[in-house]
Amino acid sequence: MIPFNDLNRTPAALRADLAAGVQRVLDRGWFILGPEVAAFESEFAAYCGSAHCVSVANGTDALEIALRALGAGPGDRVATAANAGGYSTTAIRAAGAQPLYVDIDPASMNLSPSSLAAALATGVRAVIATHLYGRMADLPALLEITGRAGVPLVEDCAQAHGAAIAGRKAGTWGALGCFSFYPTKNLGACGDGGAITTSDAALAARVKALRQYGWAGKYHSAEYGRNSRMDEMQAAILRTKLPLLDGWNRRRREIAARFSAALAGSPIGCPPASGEESVAHLYVIRTANRDAVRAELAAAGISTDIHYPVPDHLQEAARHQGLPAAALPETERAAREILTLPCYPELRDDEIERIVEALRALAGRSQS
Ligand SMILES: Cc1ncc(COP(=O)(O)O)c(C=O)c1O
Repeated sequence: MIPFNDLNRTPAALRADLAAGVQRVLDRGWFILGPEVAAFESEFAAYCGSAHCVSVANGTDALEIALRALGAGPGDRVATAANAGGYSTTAIRAAGAQPLYVDIDPASMNLSPSSLAAALATGVRAVIATHLYGRMADLPALLEITGRAGVPLVEDCAQAHGAAIAGRKAGTWGALGCFSFYPTKNLGACGDGGAITTSDAALAARVKALRQYGWAGKYHSAEYGRNSRMDEMQAAILRTKLPLLDGWNRRRREIAARFSAALAGSPIGCPPASGEESVAHLYVIRTANRDAVRAELAAAGISTDIHYPVPDHLQEAARHQGLPAAALPETERAAREILTLPCYPELRDDEIERIVEALRALAGRSQS
């Protein structure tokens, strides 16, 4: 089987560099909020083109802390999409607020600007826009709407490290940008990690306090925060990998382009072409025959997955909200049709060729 993902394919030379970074931390004996974290924060801020970067323990914490920094809490509603794996919902609830789900645009599968405009009219404290599958949400349109309403927008960039619109990278458009460095992300640690970017010095200071107990200074809490810190070893690992990110993103885009070419002209929906606005984190096709297509790909030795099978508002955990099942028609239709193919930089050329052949066969058959 071609694995859906394989974290064991790190080349030997990179493994050696990663090990050297870990050794550096061991030799220094400084494990939390030390020089590696400080250096990674400034290097990642520079990479994104952001004035500030504050690292945290993971991407879900990044979202929660970003919301808390904006003052979202009990009694507030935060607008978000329901097709993005539930991370924003988890963070919104952890901050004490409630999610208000907004339907998606079926072409990009990101937040629909017109649905967001309708939601904002009902009153929300903040918006989380996820750049799903590595494709930037339509930030110019979304920010126009949130700007008019005076509502801050948080970018969830967990799948979109390095994506950009008109040269301006994910994480620099909204009030705050939130990143995950979960190992399978385009920039992944060897464990958990997360970060928040912002151009606002006051928000950055607030986030810094919130990631460490709410401390204004050592042992002095101005408010109650979290303990959510990136450790020095993960920071050393991420510093080693960051210079490789653009090359990996290029390789992902090339793989995505080959898959899309194989499906051209067929009724199987493929992602829009990947320019700078997509870093092809996940290659997601759409077909009404999803289960049959999945079985056929499995028979051809190709692993697939579904991102994500159950929208947030239909999760068992959300039943108390009593939303009608048809509340988000595009989100619900997408959940029935989506299928994710393997798409990662370490895919071998022969594996890509096998997937292309299988897609050509599918495309040919679905046309006849
Ligand atoms: C879109 C999105 N947001 C947030 C997260 C949460 O990140 P973490 O797993 O680091 O908490 C993830 C991934 O896991 C994600 O894909």
